[in-house]
Amino acid sequence: MSNERGNWGSSVGFVLAAAGSAIGLGNLWKFPYLAGKNGGGAFVIVYLSLVVILGFSLMLGEMAIGRRGKSDAYGSYNNIKKGWGFVGMMGILCCFVIYSYYVVIAGWIVKYIGLFLSGGMDGDPVEYFSTFISSGTTPIIYSVIMVVATALIVLKGVSGGIEKASKIMMPTLFIFMLIIVVRSVTLPNAMDGIKYFLKPDFSLITPKVIIAALGQVFFSLSLGMGAMITYGSYLSPETKLVKSAFCIPVLDTIIALLAGLAILPAVFSFGLEPTAGPGLIFITLPKVFSAMPFGNIFGVIFFVLVLFAALTSTISLLEVVVSFVVDQFKLDRKKATVLVSTLIALLVIPNSNSFGSMAELKVFFGMNFFDFLCYLTDNILLPTGGLLLCVFVGFIWDKEDLKNEITNHGEVKFEMFPLWIVGVKYLGIQLLSLILLQAVGVQDQFLVYALGTIFAVQILCGRLEAKRGVKAV
Ligand code: TRP
Repeated sequence: MSNERGNWGSSVGFVLAAAGSAIGLGNLWKFPYLAGKNGGGAFVIVYLSLVVILGFSLMLGEMAIGRRGKSDAYGSYNNIKKGWGFVGMMGILCCFVIYSYYVVIAGWIVKYIGLFLSGGMDGDPVEYFSTFISSGTTPIIYSVIMVVATALIVLKGVSGGIEKASKIMMPTLFIFMLIIVVRSVTLPNAMDGIKYFLKPDFSLITPKVIIAALGQVFFSLSLGMGAMITYGSYLSPETKLVKSAFCIPVLDTIIALLAGLAILPAVFSFGLEPTAGPGLIFITLPKVFSAMPFGNIFGVIFFVLVLFAALTSTISLLEVVVSFVVDQFKLDRKKATVLVSTLIALLVIPNSNSFGSMAELKVFFGMNFFDFLCYLTDNILLPTGGLLLCVFVGFIWDKEDLKNEITNHGEVKFEMFPLWIVGVKYLGIQLLSLILLQAVGVQDQFLVYALGTIFAVQILCGRLEAKRGVKAV
């Protein structure tokens, strides 16, 4: 049965595909602008700490669920513990929704490659960008190009499509990234940007910065949405999970840091503001490229690398949903891919128009379509999925079974197992509850009480487990 579902050709192929899922617009577009907005180095240091504490742990948890459950995200949870499939289901929904707006931004990237290939932009970048994104049909066409490209790769299956594409795109992305970083840090006054990015001012670390960094860790590592469960389900029993789970956050973080080094020094060198927000790579950077010698060439290299990053992520977003349709409804991969991609292409229309004709159509809790979907995924589905993942790994999944899965039945050593479990059970649940509580609008002064109550419940559950004879590991 596992052969029908597909398998990775090699562990390197798997790591590249999973890193491809993680490395995306989250690293290249969101991370630099979040760092730019949230105090530079202060944000970076919090982000790094959270990747170490949580990123690695949950990456391992998800991969283990996938390899043990040997199914899509819904089926894998259910196969391990009946009744828990709904957590996977939420993840699949989250991927579907993210995909529908992620391709809109990815479509803009395609447009910008064309722009720099044809000699760059005349006139004001702000004007150019806002005219383009609000122009109705054109941006929709670019997004649909992305949907089709993604579908063509996913159609070819796990090793023949996803793995092959990742093996070409990921190394190219890395080389292009190095070219841009070298160019950026050798510009005049680049040092100011490097300092802003890497030198933490600890006084700027506020709860807001921590929460922003925490959300970004999840988004950037594709965690809490069943992506790593789905990719993990195609793993062979011999793969060393701990090693892979370690490599992926490391690669993802290296690319996020390089993205900051590619963008912020250049922005500072030309005397521009790092706090532009989402327009940073579409408005601020084109200004940089048009002011630098051979700027168009660097523009093409930069946007091709962003495209590759985006494409390996859209592949993974689509694969999560396709694998669910294939496994649960027994549809063949081709039909499932076409079906899901068509639905996405339809959703692209209101998403893309949210920057044009539908911008003011604030029918969803005072937000337009695009903003509402971002809010729903970032603030509700993602933290809930992450929280339930921690509960599942920490309290629900039988410890012996879990340990067997992670250590390949005792063949691989993982001495940190007890520490890992305790981290997921207590720290993981606390941190995720924090994002969720503040996302649903619990006020700061009540947060301490709410978290305290949750802590009491955690301790109680821990005690109950001990009573039932579950070893405290
Ligand atoms: N991690 C991706 C990025 O950094 C975005 C993403 C979020 C994602 N959730 C996902 C990709 C699930 C694939 C699957 O851009």
